[in-house]
Amino acid sequence: MDLQQRIEASKKLLAHRRYSKRGKPERSLLTLSDLTKEQVMTIIDGGISIKNNPTKYRDLLKHKSVALIFKKTSTRTRCSFEIGISEMGGQALYMDWNTSNFTIASLEDEIKTLSRYVDAIVARVHKHEDLIIMKEHSEVPIINGLSNLYHPCQALADLMTIKEYFGELEGLNICYLGDGNDICHSLINGAGHAGINISIACPQNYLPNPEILEAVQRNNNIRIRIGSDPTELVKDADIIYTDTWIPMAIWTLTDNSNEKDLRIKAFSDFQVNRELLSHAPEHALVMHCLPAHREYEITADALNSENSIVFDQAENRKHVQKYLMPWILETI
Ligand code: CP
Ligand code: NVA
Repeated sequence: MDLQQRIEASKKLLAHRRYSKRGKPERSLLTLSDLTKEQVMTIIDGGISIKNNPTKYRDLLKHKSVALIFKKTSTRTRCSFEIGISEMGGQALYMDWNTSNFTIASLEDEIKTLSRYVDAIVARVHKHEDLIIMKEHSEVPIINGLSNLYHPCQALADLMTIKEYFGELEGLNICYLGDGNDICHSLINGAGHAGINISIACPQNYLPNPEILEAVQRNNNIRIRIGSDPTELVKDADIIYTDTWIPMAIWTLTDNSNEKDLRIKAFSDFQVNRELLSHAPEHALVMHCLPAHREYEITADALNSENSIVFDQAENRKHVQKYLMPWILETI
């Protein structure tokens, strides 16, 4: 081949590569509002099927690899994804953001590179905008493993757990107490999809994002109540849900005492404890996404009470994500 022929071949390859790379994936999951009601129900029911018959699904990620890139600490999300991937014959690649070159290079370049190696990427970030940048530049689906705004995988596991207990979701009442945070936002989105009424009791400065609330109210026929009196709001609750008053990003800061103290003071009337549970119907289930901070947002006796289903929630992270991954890859 003379030089001119080689140049022509190179040009051809370049043009070909531009148009034949893996292209944009059809599906990603940054927030539950990315999904339709029907898609959410399919994933929840899929999680229940996988839990009941894991063998049937054991090869669904064969020859597939999934990167898990985490900017914050994790127990449940990391372990449930890693084990779930391995149970379906795939390979999980865990990456600590802070010991990778994501710390020193552009997010665009690093995510483009990573997406050339794997079939999907799970990311836990501080800023939700980082996930949007990742989705824009990745050649493979991005799954939100927690951002400052949303935790959709947690909400999928929560809905799956509620469905296991109550059989049907529509028309139930959930009462969320505490911080109007990532968990609360995804629960609101999930409640909208599932037809669950939601009552939220938060201190004034820690209310959920009004745009998320308005969108869910606009698009769904559910009752949303915002209040500041937990005893009043739990009265008709089928489920009482709480989460940490102090986000992990603040727990892990060395100089966090001011912010921690401020929050503990602001949230002190919103604790889930035996006294509060005495105002709720006898059948009301207690939920928490974990990690919990006992004697802050929830007392140990409420967390360990006979109505607590927190460890079912934690377990169901694995089952529902096992369905979610092949669903996102469109191989199921
Ligand atoms: N609920 C949850 O996401 O837990 P981890 O932070 O331990 O992953
Ligand atoms: N909402 C908490 C826990 C999420 C698993 C946080 O952001 O730290």
